[in-house]
Amino acid sequence: PPMEKYVDDLPVPRVIMSSPTEPIEMVARSTTTRFHRDQPRVPAMGYNDESYHGPTIEAHVDEQTTLHYRSELGRHTFAADLDTTLHGVSESYRSSPPTSLHLHGGATPPQFDGHPQRLLLPHHGTSLLEYPNRQEAGHLWYHDHAMGITRANVYAGLTGMYFLRDGYDTGGADNPLGLPSGPNEIPLILQEKVFHEDGRQSLRSTPVVPQGLWEGGAVGDRGVVNGRVWPKMTVARGVYRFRLINAASFSVWRLFFSNRMRFWVIGNEGGLLNEPVRCHSILVAPAERFDILVDFSSLAPGESVELCNDLTPPFQAAVLGEVALSRFCRFTAGTSRGDRRPVPTALRGGRNRPARIPPPARPEVIRRVSVSQPYEVRLPPAIMSLNNLRFSDPQIEKPREGTVERWDIINITPDPHPIHLHLIMFRVLGRRPLRTVDYQVANPQPPIGTRWAPDPSNFYAGPMRPAAAWEAGWKDTVRADGGHVTSILVRFPRADELGFDPDAVFSSDATDSRIRPAHGRSVAPHMSGGHHAGAMPAHRMITTDLQGYVWHCHILDHEDHDMMLRYRLVR
Ligand code: C2O
Ligand code: CU
Repeated sequence: PPMEKYVDDLPVPRVIMSSPTEPIEMVARSTTTRFHRDQPRVPAMGYNDESYHGPTIEAHVDEQTTLHYRSELGRHTFAADLDTTLHGVSESYRSSPPTSLHLHGGATPPQFDGHPQRLLLPHHGTSLLEYPNRQEAGHLWYHDHAMGITRANVYAGLTGMYFLRDGYDTGGADNPLGLPSGPNEIPLILQEKVFHEDGRQSLRSTPVVPQGLWEGGAVGDRGVVNGRVWPKMTVARGVYRFRLINAASFSVWRLFFSNRMRFWVIGNEGGLLNEPVRCHSILVAPAERFDILVDFSSLAPGESVELCNDLTPPFQAAVLGEVALSRFCRFTAGTSRGDRRPVPTALRGGRNRPARIPPPARPEVIRRVSVSQPYEVRLPPAIMSLNNLRFSDPQIEKPREGTVERWDIINITPDPHPIHLHLIMFRVLGRRPLRTVDYQVANPQPPIGTRWAPDPSNFYAGPMRPAAAWEAGWKDTVRADGGHVTSILVRFPRADELGFDPDAVFSSDATDSRIRPAHGRSVAPHMSGGHHAGAMPAHRMITTDLQGYVWHCHILDHEDHDMMLRYRLVR
């Protein structure tokens, strides 16, 4: 359907202030929402009173946030698109979709982490979720994580922002760093979508894969920002702080402004950089967050700039021969002068600033992991995998608490995959090109189910390219480029320094007894330990470890099938 650009105002999600004494009620709901002025209201999902996405939660470092989460979802927005051949997905998901609320970027005890199989059915009680917030201030977000339907739940709308504040990044006008605040600090939740003729959202972006089968990557041709297609915003002629996220399923974007003006990256997922990095464009993969300062003071009143993208996924580029999604939103300068404080020269170190990010430590362990497409299943429904394993395979990673590890992520596919680890923040060291064909010829990939991540040392095609200056901060998601080995440095924290109950983290018997034979009875609703209520039909459910964490590709289609593995912190 034709949708005129820049007719809707950019909405800003409402804010909930977390308090250490008051739990926050969170309810997932089926809604209708309007993505564009000229389109009807269409089915979607949201949290609380939002018709799409959820409220922004503002929490404070070292003050616990408690959520009471329940679901009142009705029939799934994409009931006909769910693929019941995927891990755990059953027919009943169409009418009664399970959910699992995850705080992405949170150092959260495992029982509250929104494990993909710790599922809550609609109208089946309330989950208690406790986030200790014992970590640095940063840009976290929450979203649904239910196994096999995450892509559909998130695309339907189940996401929201979560800003963790501290005494430096207070969010107030009085913040010691002099960062824009209040109406000058704005989340930009960027997504891409395809719409049907009648204005409904389409989860499918190509007719190639039949409806009801996993597609492998939902791309879009409409830029959606904070739940509106191609919105506009009038800005004061001054500096703004945008908290930007790629909350889409598939595409990596190269973002820039139409007048090619410079802007400053001041932070990543896990907080501020040491100093602002001036740039003209950034690459943003799904789940990556960038904290940027943009100075509109050189615009004349009435002058506009657009936030643009000039990358398109290779497959779509081949089909369309063009950039499918080249615009997100437009900013037009008003007459008022805005925040004219200069961009700070330093963000960390010294008086009234947080401590500097230390240089990367020496790794005690080097762990090789792989990103590949197994040979067996190349046609729809194909499968993508990490380490040549499926989610349910037992060969999981077991990093030791308190240990510094280097993860070498060997991506032999031609495409980038954003890799995300729960629980921790890491540093990106760099990316090294790999001769993938030689590597594979020398190390034939076994059938899926056998761990495979051979040593790439003899197959490098060049030296390591260090991480970009704008990805130098604490991160929880890294773009693992196709045909490259991407190295990250991770320190796995000790459970006690995070304030976690060691029994919850290290208990060995952590399989879930509530996963029972087909169509078992419901468990009485209760409110402890983040446990869900409601039995799942078990004929396809694989008993798993609910006390561990996961790491996965954040292309939502990929994590659903089966590019997600469990990991366990061990003593
Ligand atoms: Cu954004 Cu496993 O999550
Ligand atoms: Cu992937």
